[in-house]
Amino acid sequence: MTNSSDARLGGRRISSVVYDEEQIQGRVRELGREISAAYDASDRLLVIGLLKGSFLFLADVVRNLTLPVHVDFMVASSYGDGVVSSGDVRLLYEPAADLAGRRVLLVEDIVDSGATLEHLVPMIAARGAKSVDVCALLHKKLPSATVEVRWVGFDAPNSFLVGYGLDHAEDFRHLPYIASL
Ligand code: IMP
Ligand code: MG
Repeated sequence: MTNSSDARLGGRRISSVVYDEEQIQGRVRELGREISAAYDASDRLLVIGLLKGSFLFLADVVRNLTLPVHVDFMVASSYGDGVVSSGDVRLLYEPAADLAGRRVLLVEDIVDSGATLEHLVPMIAARGAKSVDVCALLHKKLPSATVEVRWVGFDAPNSFLVGYGLDHAEDFRHLPYIASL
């Protein structure tokens, strides 16, 4: 997919496609199988998507789960329109579900500095969740990101990525592929 032939880019440029739609969908199916095997129906798994970045990934992952699950969302903000993490995590929307006794799967778009998850995972645990696992579409594997991520879609290059939920200043979220800017 070249810049000029993709009308979805609205004239903005990407430098290259890092994961195409087929690679992403193949990996999502694998994750669906692995996650389904890790829980029982009796766990009443609660899948919490971190908005907005995880919206497409979460939608694809849950369609590949062979378990009964509930879906909820939370919104945390750590980035403005910049490309560098501020490390300041604010919670803008909390899950409506009561987390007490629940097994939770937190779905995140990308682990960069790790600050977001380092803040949110203990917070979910503190609300009485029985277990908290993380599934991230992308992980940049930076030394600062020490939080345990049970399922990773792809080990990502350390460049700014957009598409398949990830944005730059709200552009590119709807792309079915992941590109570097
Ligand atoms: P962290 O707290 O530094 O791990 O950053 C996590 C959040 O920053 C993610 O949920 C994304 O919203 C955003 N982010 C980090 N890296 C990128 C990127 O390469 N592209 C788009 N968003 C990113
Ligand atoms: Mg973001």
